[in-house]
Amino acid sequence: HQAELTLDPAFKVAPVRRRTFGTFVEHLGRCVYTGIYEPDHPEADGDGFRRDVLDLTRELGVSTVRYPGGNFVSGYRWEDGIGPVAERPRRLDLAWHSTETNEVGVDEFVRWCRKAGVEPMMALNLGTRGIAEALDLLEYCNHPSGTTLSDLRVANGSKEPHGIRMWCLGNEMDGPWQTGHKTAREYGRLAAETARAMRTMDKNLELVACGSSGSGMPTFGAWEATVLEETYDVVDHVSCHAYYEEKDGDLGSFLACSTDMEYFISSVVATADHVGARLKSRKRIDVSFDEWNVWYLSRFQNAEPPKDWPVAPPLLEDHYHLADAVAFGGLLITLLRNSDRVTAASLAQLVNVIAPIMTEPGGRAWRQTTFHPFAQASRHAAGDVLRVEPVSPSYETKEYGEVPLLHAVATHAEEGTTLFAVNRSTDAPLSLTIDARALGGRRIVEATTLTDADVYARNTADAPDRIAPRPNPDVEHDPARVLLPPVSWNVIRLA
Ligand code: AHR
Repeated sequence: HQAELTLDPAFKVAPVRRRTFGTFVEHLGRCVYTGIYEPDHPEADGDGFRRDVLDLTRELGVSTVRYPGGNFVSGYRWEDGIGPVAERPRRLDLAWHSTETNEVGVDEFVRWCRKAGVEPMMALNLGTRGIAEALDLLEYCNHPSGTTLSDLRVANGSKEPHGIRMWCLGNEMDGPWQTGHKTAREYGRLAAETARAMRTMDKNLELVACGSSGSGMPTFGAWEATVLEETYDVVDHVSCHAYYEEKDGDLGSFLACSTDMEYFISSVVATADHVGARLKSRKRIDVSFDEWNVWYLSRFQNAEPPKDWPVAPPLLEDHYHLADAVAFGGLLITLLRNSDRVTAASLAQLVNVIAPIMTEPGGRAWRQTTFHPFAQASRHAAGDVLRVEPVSPSYETKEYGEVPLLHAVATHAEEGTTLFAVNRSTDAPLSLTIDARALGGRRIVEATTLTDADVYARNTADAPDRIAPRPNPDVEHDPARVLLPPVSWNVIRLA
């Protein structure tokens, strides 16, 4: 197969948004306990955080981290997680049928964020709670001092305000599985009133209204329209959540799953703009794609919930293979391609729970296959996102019809231009010719590929580097040409 594309700095989409490289830490399974936090671990620091996980988080290039849920947040009382650890209550977590010990709460999380060099992004409970509790948490976190709640934060060891800017107004409130699930109108009103009150306390906030939990939700589209009708003036973002998996051995469709993400984004943007037009508003609402990933959800749905309310049981521990990483890379390309409207995103999640980083309790930590596309894109995406308009052969998929074999995006900065490309073909390499004439003499200086003869090969604690980016030997210059192996994620740097 042969494909071609043009790199031209004039074809600017938007600046690369650092927040595209956000992730997510939920009190779910082993994400917090034995994930980021394990005081008895040999690698634990003075605060009980695993140094090996902190190092991998930095290497992954994470910008923001959403916390503490997810479904968990819709039953969460944030006050349970502050003050002396020995006095914190143990609670039932209805979302994951587990026991929450509250050893980690907002102060520990923000401390962990500072160590990891990431921005915290807080989700509020609008399931079992409302405006008053949201205001209390905001005051506790962001008010400098001189009130009971802000002084409590100081007394608990955080003299400086946490200064959290991004807040999610609830989580997946369109989902019948959500504790406190609401209709769009009910939720829209609550979100609007919460947002208005929060902005009175703190002018410096960016607020996210809940959009749909997936493009297949029965209320998709109508939900966004109603919620934004209520919240348009007081929120900045509407959220999208999407998870994909290979179903019934249909690898071709799975590798094209970013087609759905593309449709999801353009539908939500169109809906938001439609509401804006009706309200005669010049303001634009952006998308926070604050949950996305490959997740073998059907396996989880077919499993029994944990018995006896365990503490930090292994849940949602998907072990990703090469094909997962390539589908994942395609999703990342789609997020970047839409950087004009997708200005924040969170890979769900960071550690152990459908995560790029895995740990053994008391033992090793390693990179899953999906770690690599994320880390490479975060490291090399810089400057502006460029539209590349690939000319590519296509193939027929069961789920999405005809889809191009090549999926790509580029970024362009003074230091260099980087092309991110996926070959979706399951059986043939793709010879990609790059028209780089507009780049003023820049040449390919590095080309790596993530691929394997076995598309289902995985990384494990014993073979942690089975799947990792390797130099691509098939590179030509004048004209620039790279051979992309079948089922591969590729990074091509020009300088
Ligand atoms: O990320 C796992 C779960 O997926 C989250 O808790 C929820 O918001 C979504 O359904």
